[in-house]
Amino acid sequence: EGERERKKEKEENPDRNKGMETLRLKREVGLISAVSLIAGTMIGSGIFMSPEWVLYYMGSPAGSLIIWAACGLLVMFAALSYAELGTIIKESGGEYIYLLRNFGSFPAFLCAYTSVIMVRPASVAGVSLSFAEYAVAPFYPGCSPPQVLVKCTAATCILLLTIINCLNVKLATSVMNVFTAAKLLVLLVIATGGIVLLINGQTQSFQNAFQNTTAGIGPVGVAFYQGLWSYDGWNNLNYVTEELKKPEVTLPRAVMIAIPLVTSLYLLVNVSYFAAMTPAELLSSGAVAVSWGNKVLGSWAWLISLAVAISTFGSANGTFFSGGRMCYIAAREGHMPDILSMAHVQCFTPSPALIFTSAMSLLMIIPGNFSSIVNFFSFIAWIFYGTTIAGLLYLKIKKPELPRAYKVPIFMPIIMLIASVYLVLAPIIDQPQIEFFYVILFILSGVIVYFPLVHFKCYPRFLPWVTLHLQLLLEVAPAAKNVN
Ligand code: ARG
Repeated sequence: EGERERKKEKEENPDRNKGMETLRLKREVGLISAVSLIAGTMIGSGIFMSPEWVLYYMGSPAGSLIIWAACGLLVMFAALSYAELGTIIKESGGEYIYLLRNFGSFPAFLCAYTSVIMVRPASVAGVSLSFAEYAVAPFYPGCSPPQVLVKCTAATCILLLTIINCLNVKLATSVMNVFTAAKLLVLLVIATGGIVLLINGQTQSFQNAFQNTTAGIGPVGVAFYQGLWSYDGWNNLNYVTEELKKPEVTLPRAVMIAIPLVTSLYLLVNVSYFAAMTPAELLSSGAVAVSWGNKVLGSWAWLISLAVAISTFGSANGTFFSGGRMCYIAAREGHMPDILSMAHVQCFTPSPALIFTSAMSLLMIIPGNFSSIVNFFSFIAWIFYGTTIAGLLYLKIKKPELPRAYKVPIFMPIIMLIASVYLVLAPIIDQPQIEFFYVILFILSGVIVYFPLVHFKCYPRFLPWVTLHLQLLLEVAPAAKNVN
């Protein structure tokens, strides 16, 4: 089947691949790296910042634990559904490639356009900003650090990630593995601390645990947004299917290891926060993990700031890795400028796409702040997750004969589809905000770009000249697909 694909591509594009047969990204991501690519991106800033917001919207400890568990379950269904998609459509590119193969060029373009220009850079920027907050905090005890310094630190973080990811894939995945191990350890420390507190009888938060729980549709939706930000990154492997060793085995297996692991750690960590603090204390804490550290670790509390810095740096790395890939694939399919689809001739990394993602993320840092990024991120992201899952249901019903190495029970994508409709609609209906409208307007602005530039292909005459010179400057060449 891969052979046929390649032949077809050659026929359509005779000189594009001439003599370039060997330049392609290599299959370098094994099971361990795959697990850490998922878990390492999921565990970032969220678990150290969002618990108080989930509690704020839900009103009670039991209510917020239910949200954390429900988010984990939902994400598990979603990731297993994506695993099936990944074994049917074996190309990299995540939502983009699935929309392209199932629904055609236009919706896929809208997805790539929004993700590459807005969503991915925003999430890199958001995670880097929280990295910066925590990295500089120890130097400003008792007061908040100057914003300029925070933004410059975030920018340095992005530049460092760009260098690491452009140099080679092994380096990027090793950084991933080391940082993931470190943060799993931190979460375990917090979880163990909580268990010790509970054994010592600190259970007052759990008496009347259901008191004050909200049942409003809107607040529950926003609580989900906060929780789901902490779980986001569950789909990361689908962006790099072509770089996985044995994707049909690795993809489902890595999901089945990483997501239950992260979910149970998140639940234990939340229990630990509640064991150390009363709900009122938690709500007024600012940064939950730091307050937890001050209460439980005493003079070792600085460890928590360090841990959060490590955790967010690793998560930004994972986001960057997969974000660059989406841009690269979209360019390969002709939805972005050609130069972005090329790979470095010696490093085998999609460096132009990475540099572009980095530039967009740097731009986002200037006006961006963490909490606005989080709320709008989930809203846009779930529009595309939902559409992608609709594509899977379509394949399951209409094309059951397609070979697939993994089959997800059909109730999972159905629940996930219903959940995504709810997640997108509930906050708009409950609290219509003008920003949601801007976001939709931005997605639709893709139409204006699509027809002249992609559909009718009328771009400026000097574009090939620019591409050529950039190619020489960056030492990059067109790379082939990796689907066999
Ligand atoms: N879950 C991460 C956190 O809690 C955010 C990950 C954003 N990256 C992504 N690829 N979606 O900070």
